[in-house]
Amino acid sequence: MQAIQKPRGTNDFFNTSALLLNHTENIIKAVVSKYNFSEIRTPLFEYTELFTRGIGTETDIVSKEMFSFEDRGGRSLTLRPEGTASVVRAYLENKLNSENAVNKLYYLGTMYRAERPQKGRYREFRQFGLETIGSSSPLADVEIILLNLHVLKSLGIENSKLYINSVGCKKCKPNYEAALREHFKSEFDNLCGVCKVRYEKNILRMLDCKEETCKKIMSNIPKFEEHLCEECATHFDTVKKELKNNNIEYEVNPMLVRGLDYYTKTVFEVQSSLLGSQSAILGGGRYDYLIGEFNNGHDIGAVGSAMGIERILLIIESLNKKNEERLDVFIVAFEDTAYKVMPLAQSIRENNFSVEFEYDIKSIKSQFKMSSKKNARYTIILGSEELTKGKCKIKNMDTTEEKEINITDIKDNIK
Ligand code: HAM
Repeated sequence: MQAIQKPRGTNDFFNTSALLLNHTENIIKAVVSKYNFSEIRTPLFEYTELFTRGIGTETDIVSKEMFSFEDRGGRSLTLRPEGTASVVRAYLENKLNSENAVNKLYYLGTMYRAERPQKGRYREFRQFGLETIGSSSPLADVEIILLNLHVLKSLGIENSKLYINSVGCKKCKPNYEAALREHFKSEFDNLCGVCKVRYEKNILRMLDCKEETCKKIMSNIPKFEEHLCEECATHFDTVKKELKNNNIEYEVNPMLVRGLDYYTKTVFEVQSSLLGSQSAILGGGRYDYLIGEFNNGHDIGAVGSAMGIERILLIIESLNKKNEERLDVFIVAFEDTAYKVMPLAQSIRENNFSVEFEYDIKSIKSQFKMSSKKNARYTIILGSEELTKGKCKIKNMDTTEEKEINITDIKDNIK
């Protein structure tokens, strides 16, 4: 009899992976408490119409990725593909606004999407979600971004990049959609099949297309930023100003529209180059009309995000692997400094760092190539001019920053 295996796109966690999962969730909870968000837990399944109405029927999630089934009474239920719609339902059902005008909520839990599995993309996956409900202030948007970046920093995840955009409101979104429609009109016949449907039904989603021909057509699209109404433009400007005030680097990405229909104004994503094609560590944005959708049109300002926990674990694993395999220092020398390399290497090794260099002097380019191949964290360049002043150059191979330092300060610079 054949052994039964886990369903495609799911993961088992045990031993180290279970420890890492717990460690990550504990760090998240510790950071969240500093911002005074409180936990919310909602069911793993909800009535299907919560998601179709909340997320949008033309989105990939609703149109092809939901795990839906009927209960015994013939009512359709769906395993939650995301947390926002459920939190909004729970917020309204439990009248959470009667106690606090602004509710700051967080959740950790599994989500289910019938996607084609690949590295970083699963059918059962975990999210750390945040939802601030009851505020229209851009400061709420920025606090969500800051909290997420705080979590990443506490987990030792650097080198990630924050992208932001604004997708406007009911007033200005139609203007932008009209500008896009006009822009794509002459190229309609060259669009892929999916984009042709999106052109008619949900034109913003076209910007997510990964087809090469469509990507080319999209290269000079009109920017949403230039079509925002005054209120949305001021909101977006304040978000950018506050990010700067908090020393947060970001890039405005006019192609960032996100895969769920409920967004208004600010949208954002953090991506990591360590993740391959599924590069988004987290994403989110403002959703000022979603609550009105379930509340007889009484809109309440809200903003939130969700971070993919499996993607965090993949990054931590790859960082650990990189660190384990890393050489601390590679020394690059010239013909006239070749015989100064070995004593220098010895003195650095005595400080507990690993060091390598070429025995035969080769071109600088080939020595740098070797340094990259050895996955060195730093390259020291030993030039005779610097050496006569007791100095050398040191290059951080991750950030590519290069500076001149005293030879005696090497160990302080490679910590
Ligand atoms: P989302 O962009 O669909 O947003 O998902 C957020 C994050 O969940 C992604 O950036 C990714 O890290 C992770 N993720 C998504 N799908 C998968 C998958 N199949 N496998 C592994 N990880 C995945 C939302 O879900 C919104 N509810 C976020 C939000 C909250 N917006 C406002 N409030």
